[in-house]
Amino acid sequence: MESMTGPMDFVVRGASRARSSKRREIRHRALSNWVADIAELTRPNAIHWCDGSQNEYNDLCKTLVAEGTFRKLNQEKRPNSYLAWSDPTDVARVEDRTFICSIHKYDAGPTNNWVQPSEMKATLTGLFAGCMTGRTLYVIPFSMGPLGSPISHIGVEITDSPYVVVNMRIMTRMGEEVVAALGEHGEFVRCLHSVGMPLSPGQADVAWPSNKEHKYIVHFPEEKSIWSYGSGYGGNALLGKKCFALRIASSMAREEGWLAEHMLILGVESPSGEKTYVAGAFPSACGKTNFAMLIPPAAFEGWKVTTVGDDIAWIKPGPDGKLYAINPEAGYFGVAPGTSVQSNPNAMAALAKNSIFTNVALTPDGDVWWEAMTETPPPELTDWQGRPWTPDCGRVAAHPNARFTAPAIQCPSIDPDWEKPEGVPISAFIFGGRRSKAVPLVVASFNWNFGVYMAATMGSETTAAAAGKVGDVRRDPMAMLPFCGYDIADYFDHWLEIGHAISDPPRIFCVNWFRKDAQGKFLWPGYGENMRVLKWIIERADGRAPAIQSPLGWMPRYEDLSWEGLESVTREQYTELMSVDREAWIGELLSHEELFLKLYERLPKEFVSMRQLLLASLWRSPVRWELPKE
Ligand code: OXD
Ligand code: MN
Repeated sequence: MESMTGPMDFVVRGASRARSSKRREIRHRALSNWVADIAELTRPNAIHWCDGSQNEYNDLCKTLVAEGTFRKLNQEKRPNSYLAWSDPTDVARVEDRTFICSIHKYDAGPTNNWVQPSEMKATLTGLFAGCMTGRTLYVIPFSMGPLGSPISHIGVEITDSPYVVVNMRIMTRMGEEVVAALGEHGEFVRCLHSVGMPLSPGQADVAWPSNKEHKYIVHFPEEKSIWSYGSGYGGNALLGKKCFALRIASSMAREEGWLAEHMLILGVESPSGEKTYVAGAFPSACGKTNFAMLIPPAAFEGWKVTTVGDDIAWIKPGPDGKLYAINPEAGYFGVAPGTSVQSNPNAMAALAKNSIFTNVALTPDGDVWWEAMTETPPPELTDWQGRPWTPDCGRVAAHPNARFTAPAIQCPSIDPDWEKPEGVPISAFIFGGRRSKAVPLVVASFNWNFGVYMAATMGSETTAAAAGKVGDVRRDPMAMLPFCGYDIADYFDHWLEIGHAISDPPRIFCVNWFRKDAQGKFLWPGYGENMRVLKWIIERADGRAPAIQSPLGWMPRYEDLSWEGLESVTREQYTELMSVDREAWIGELLSHEELFLKLYERLPKEFVSMRQLLLASLWRSPVRWELPKE
């Protein structure tokens, strides 16, 4: 084993042999000591310090092809792109194996799994001992957010998965310049990952190594570290994303007075060139990526929607009393099925080249396909498990959680300021769920506190891909339930605090694109037509758009939205979309009690009062509250 102290090889054996002579000094003692300690524990065959170069990426992709993890796709159809099929037991984030190991159980709160940190460290140390034998240990220095931005933070991931390295190169700013930015004493989040499958001498590897018996995705918020074992997939393994940018960052944000949110960020440019940014939180299966990359309908000539981020926002108060946001990521790790030229042409353009596909189907000519990518499926494919597939075979071709990893810069709607170090000013927060009944198309909250209440109690109906009965409403506060790194009741309190600590907080809105009529038909067309609601939101956020008071908040009347070019929604339909059914809403508010009882100990006291006020407002409203007819 190479000496771990003092100057080190940036590449020590491993995939990029060609540059193994290139020496870089690691001046950061704590970093080189940590790598040495982990190497001592995990016993890899080689250590590779990632420089983040294109050559390194190409070499690693070649290695992955040689090892059978990657298949190079047709260079004409999908230039410089690769396909991986995972082990069928390793296809998604594992929430039941995800832990927040704060020193005190009450700091993790009732919605997170918790184990006492020393007990968890003992378990993990046992699992990590010798777990990289026969493999290369990769050191990935990465920045979440543009290097040098006051909103960004640095992490270093140690992994034994070259698949993780190449994905991290797309998803983060990764490599030498991050080590340079760290200097001798810079702070970084320690992210340790192993697929948990050591190789004994002569043992052949498998295409997708993982550990079928043990999976642990563990966060230690006080020491700001992550230990992930046994899975090579997505958020379990690309530790910059959910583990760092949401769970650890939310805990840092609370300490330091900012927000780490599961939110898209988009810009709206009016025909006169005025720019407004909003951030939005939606649970999965609510069209979040489509909304982030929305293309306005033809009638909105001169209007433009631009994308800053599709999944995560880091938001800090600026000197002018506004909140400023960055997208900490540099790529999209999007769900492939359902993405098409019709539903999201921007995403399709983003993934046209230089992308990695995981668990999608392969066409006979070496391209990719997934459900709903084209209206008519190809007559034959190889499915995500490598089996022959035809449209009538009764199986899906791509796994429902199949993903594309694509560079953000390839998205045609990318905002020109998406890498601006100071971030973009946020004028509105939008919260949305999938609700077939009761929840109106759009409501502006009465004030910050009510907005936080609505966001904290937001629910979404489960779809076929999720656990539970289809159509059950699952409460997913701010779409953060699986991602909050501390007690979610303290998180509500932190939200209340932020709104009061700054002089010009964003306005808060709730939306629902999924309300249905009595016949079960969607009342709202969604997709690009959401622009009509978005335009009202940005104009309302700066106090220009008119609205009427409903029992739940402020709403646009029919004449307050622009309808040009949309015949399919009549005034009657819109009235139904915006109606507030008293019984349904009383039931809704009563069901909040279930969440509140679970979080009782630390629930902000305001929440109980706000629930009472909303109930009182409903009691005084008609059985069915409707917008005025004229
Ligand atoms: C994601 C998620 O993968 O929210 O973005 O699950
Ligand atoms: Mn997400």
